[in-house]
Amino acid sequence: MEKTLFLIISVLLLFSLFSCGPRTAQTVRQSTYVEEDGETAASADVLGRDVLKWEEAFPLQAADNNRNHTEQPSPTGYNGSEPIQRWEWTPEIKTNFSGIAFSKDYKEDRGHVYAWEDIFETVRTSEKSPGACITCKTSDIDLVFDEYGWDYASMKMYDFEESAHSGIDCFSCHDPETKHLRVTQPAFIEAMAMRGTPVNEASEQEMKTNVCAQCHSEYYFEPGTTKVIFPWQNGLSPEEMYSYYQEEPSGFTGDYTNPVSGVRLVKAQHPDYETYQSGIHASVGISCAQCHMPKTWSEEGEQYTQHWITSPLHTIESSCLSCHKGKTEQWITDRVQYIQDTAFDSMRRAGLAIEEAHKTIGAAAAQGVSDSTVNAAQDLLREAQWYWDFSASANSMGFHNSELVHSNYSTALDLAHKSIQLILKAL
Ligand code: HEC
Ligand code: HEC
Ligand code: HEC
Ligand code: HEC
Repeated sequence: MEKTLFLIISVLLLFSLFSCGPRTAQTVRQSTYVEEDGETAASADVLGRDVLKWEEAFPLQAADNNRNHTEQPSPTGYNGSEPIQRWEWTPEIKTNFSGIAFSKDYKEDRGHVYAWEDIFETVRTSEKSPGACITCKTSDIDLVFDEYGWDYASMKMYDFEESAHSGIDCFSCHDPETKHLRVTQPAFIEAMAMRGTPVNEASEQEMKTNVCAQCHSEYYFEPGTTKVIFPWQNGLSPEEMYSYYQEEPSGFTGDYTNPVSGVRLVKAQHPDYETYQSGIHASVGISCAQCHMPKTWSEEGEQYTQHWITSPLHTIESSCLSCHKGKTEQWITDRVQYIQDTAFDSMRRAGLAIEEAHKTIGAAAAQGVSDSTVNAAQDLLREAQWYWDFSASANSMGFHNSELVHSNYSTALDLAHKSIQLILKAL
């Protein structure tokens, strides 16, 4: 019954779209893929997988996409679109990431248009880097996967540079034929199927998060194959992911060993989706795109989706005030500033305690502390660093889910202190 009603309403809505006569300023499109002249997938076929044709056909979206070249700070001073080394804000990461190349290069992220050049430019990659590294940097990943399957992951990253693949572009999120949102990351498709929420059954609303989550998530490389895996077997919370890593899946014990303390560590990789999904905005069904790609208006008064994908604090009116009616831009900025200032403070307290724990453990053996005590302190520190890094590596400086972020930092702080205490007691 409900389904039939829904169908009737949808048909009526669609009908009203086609029948509303000449287009007036600020026409709202019910479905972004129903063009006013009735253009359908058939004519989209003509466009196909050709970025230039897409840019010509959709100049508003293309012009916005070009704005992803903008490099500027965020109004709150965190995040931002400039490639600043993170240790300028938090020098403790030099110690905490000692033993992995994040201590040599760990820049703040910038616009999507730079992804392909940045992956080759960073000193974290080299001639030896596996093909797995291109996974989230090219819209051609489906073609690569069709050709090689998971074998691409253990090939060399530089093999793909020569074949001139695209960076992140229209086809990272849009099906070239139907124009609909799509996801192409094989690891995400597998992980979502495993969780019982296969991407081909996702609603339009869910797709506006899935297109982002396919890249903005935690992952690791399977030992040997360097296959990309999302560690979601037990769930998406930091506890559940940690318990999964503790099972040492296919022999994966971690990404590196910190030479200061000898601790084997997992490097968290921007779990933006996992952080966001238990936060306040996700709980009321809001998608990533609603804030980062809000509906906006062209100068001619046409409504479309903003394709400048950056800090929503540059577009508060369309990104936030559409829901937070009656609030001002200043109120929004002040709230975000407060959330981020407190998150930054907690992040540093935890990060500094972890740095101290690395150094304390490092000095312990020389001072005659027993192996079993050192091992116990190392285990605590491994866990402490996971909780800290889970939130420190995630984007938004706490905004996506301030409750989880503070909880992670307090868990990390507690575990780091316990680790230090174990050593100090033994001395
Ligand atoms: C990071 C993902 C992403 C990328 C990259 C992307 N889009 Fe989109 N696009 C979206 C989302 C999300 C929507 C909104 C879908 C909805 O509301 O149902 C959208 C909507 C559209 C629409 C429908 C009209 C509108 O504005 O709502 C067009 C046309 C479009 N995009 C063209 C492009 C073009 C051209 C490019 C490349 C220059 C591109 N997109 C790149 C995610 C993306
Ligand atoms: C194909 C993988 C991929 C997809 C799909 C993707 N991203 Fe990204 N995103 C990246 C990478 C990689 C970077 C960092 C690029 C760099 O620094 O070179 C990035 C950077 C960003 C940034 C930082 C921009 C800035 O100005 O600092 C934002 C915001 C962002 N993405 C949001 C989103 C949202 C929202 C979606 C979905 C609508 C999305 N991304 C989809 C891979 C992706
Ligand atoms: C309710 C609005 C909202 C939603 C929903 C949202 N974000 Fe954000 N996001 C923000 C704000 C606000 C910031 C902080 C921007 C700043 O500091 O300037 C941010 C920051 C980011 C950044 C870092 C931007 C930078 O400049 O480096 C990325 C990447 C990002 N979000 C991705 C995502 C992804 C992926 C999702 C969905 C899983 C998502 N966001 C959902 C509001 C949102
Ligand atoms: C689609 C609607 C929607 C959009 C877009 C949206 N919000 Fe919200 N926001 C909500 C809802 C719903 C709540 C839950 C509280 C409530 O019911 O008012 C909320 C809560 C908040 C809170 C309180 C969070 C807390 O933990 O107490 C802040 C701060 C906030 N939003 C900021 C923003 C910012 C900044 C943006 C833009 C980047 C934004 N919102 C975009 C709907 C939205």
